[in-house]
Amino acid sequence: MSKATSSNAKRVTTHLLQEMKLRGEKISMLTAYDFSMAKILDSGGIDVLLVGDSASNVMAGHETTLPITLDQMIYHASAVVRGVQRALVVVDIPFGSYQGNSRLALESAVRIMKESGAHAVKMEGGEEIKESITRVLSAGVPVMGHLGLTPQSIYKFGTYSVRAREETEAAKLIEDAKILEECGCFAIVLEKIPSKLAAKVAKAVQIPIIGIGAGAGVDGQVLVTHDMLGITQDFHPRFLRRYADLAGIMKQAVSQYVEDVKAISFPTEEESYE
Ligand code: KIV
Repeated sequence: MSKATSSNAKRVTTHLLQEMKLRGEKISMLTAYDFSMAKILDSGGIDVLLVGDSASNVMAGHETTLPITLDQMIYHASAVVRGVQRALVVVDIPFGSYQGNSRLALESAVRIMKESGAHAVKMEGGEEIKESITRVLSAGVPVMGHLGLTPQSIYKFGTYSVRAREETEAAKLIEDAKILEECGCFAIVLEKIPSKLAAKVAKAVQIPIIGIGAGAGVDGQVLVTHDMLGITQDFHPRFLRRYADLAGIMKQAVSQYVEDVKAISFPTEEESYE
């Protein structure tokens, strides 16, 4: 038995998520990009950890998710996997590693699964990436879909505003969700769409729908951990609830440390060796 599965914690599986939807138990999901954070979130009882390509913004300071590479995603994912005993670990296949080329999609998914030890991958898009999703699934790799606001297509849409407010876009989104379900996706993330539409999608398909900015009528919620813990400070969308002000706490701790070093009150004799 590997170190990661040696505890008594019952692992979250894609089947368990399906059962949770059936019994009406909501699914909790957060992002993680490193070992230490993954360990804390897992011990806090999170069901799903997403190694999101938002690492491009949060960890690397890029403006969009586009620059992050497959190698970098695998690096983040393998660190997260080492920190987890219970949660299902899902990894974003990054921009340029699956769109328009199902063979490349399969190669990227296999590399993620083999090199990181993660449990599933996530891909953005509907009908247009059906072939890539089907090919990845044919290799036995579970796929989570992602519809609505899809940050990898930011330059196509030009804005991060709410999606599918118009009837034709809403109808396409429902159709895409059904296509993803038919392909065999085990769940779908719906990002930043009207809550009524999100609830309608959750009713129209049997697989779990996990929302971010999609209201309460879906089967689970996901947030970017650094946003909900208040580590990032300049991002205030309506859907974001901040559960802590870690940036404030960290700044205070750092100021105290600086003061102690300057005043030579750190380290004390007890904090030093003879
Ligand atoms: O990359 C990410 O963090 C995501 C979530 C916003 C769902 O895709």
